[in-house]
Amino acid sequence: MKTITILQQKGGVGKTTLTLNLALFFAKEGAKVAICDADSQGSLTDIADMLEGVDLVSVERVLAGQVDAQVLLIDTSPRNDIELPKLLAITDYALLPVRPGYLDALAMKATATILKASSVPKSGIVLNQVQHRNSVTRDVLDMLAKFDIPILMTRIGQRVSYTRSAMTNGVFGSDDEKAQQEISLLAMEIHYHL
Ligand SMILES: Nc1ncnc2c1ncn2[C@@H]1O[C@H](COP(=O)(O)OP(=O)(O)OP(=O)(O)O)[C@@H](O)[C@H]1O
Ligand SMILES: [Mg+2]
Repeated sequence: MKTITILQQKGGVGKTTLTLNLALFFAKEGAKVAICDADSQGSLTDIADMLEGVDLVSVERVLAGQVDAQVLLIDTSPRNDIELPKLLAITDYALLPVRPGYLDALAMKATATILKASSVPKSGIVLNQVQHRNSVTRDVLDMLAKFDIPILMTRIGQRVSYTRSAMTNGVFGSDDEKAQQEISLLAMEIHYHL
């Protein structure tokens, strides 16, 4: 099993949105997929029933090593919960979504510190809610580069289909082909690094 944990101490950057869309992509490709909602706000738990072919598993089961899946995606909270280090200890790949603003990049420091203190072997930053090519400026990229975490080539655009993706069984249940392509590329890029 490969475990991918989505984390970012800043709220509202797309952790839950990317977790559910990546889970649905891997499931669509025929993998046995599980998701874990490590955020006590439980927004992923609330919609888990609607996600086709994806099993919801508890933090307790994950930490007990009782998950039977090929891919496990863990959605985390924007607070440094006590389980986070334990979850990172069993993580193969950490995905850090960040919005392309200078202050957003600066706010990654807390997450980068947590990640550095863990033993996660591979990680990547994904730019999310990118409005257009020019919105990712040099100063943002320079700031992100300081954290010494690879920046993924795939960028996720700001699209209504992502906002609605909890209701449509992911962007694959919408007719937004650009969003579908972005999620496919992101999943393949992560898979390549795993
Ligand atoms: N690429 C995108 N395009 C448009 N809207 C997006 C995109 N990514 C996320 N959103 C929207 O931004 C909001 C925050 O996203 P989401 O809940 O996934 O963030 P989060 O990091 O899980 O937040 P929290 O830290 O509170 O758990 C949601 O309304 C979501 O629909
Ligand atoms: Mg969330």
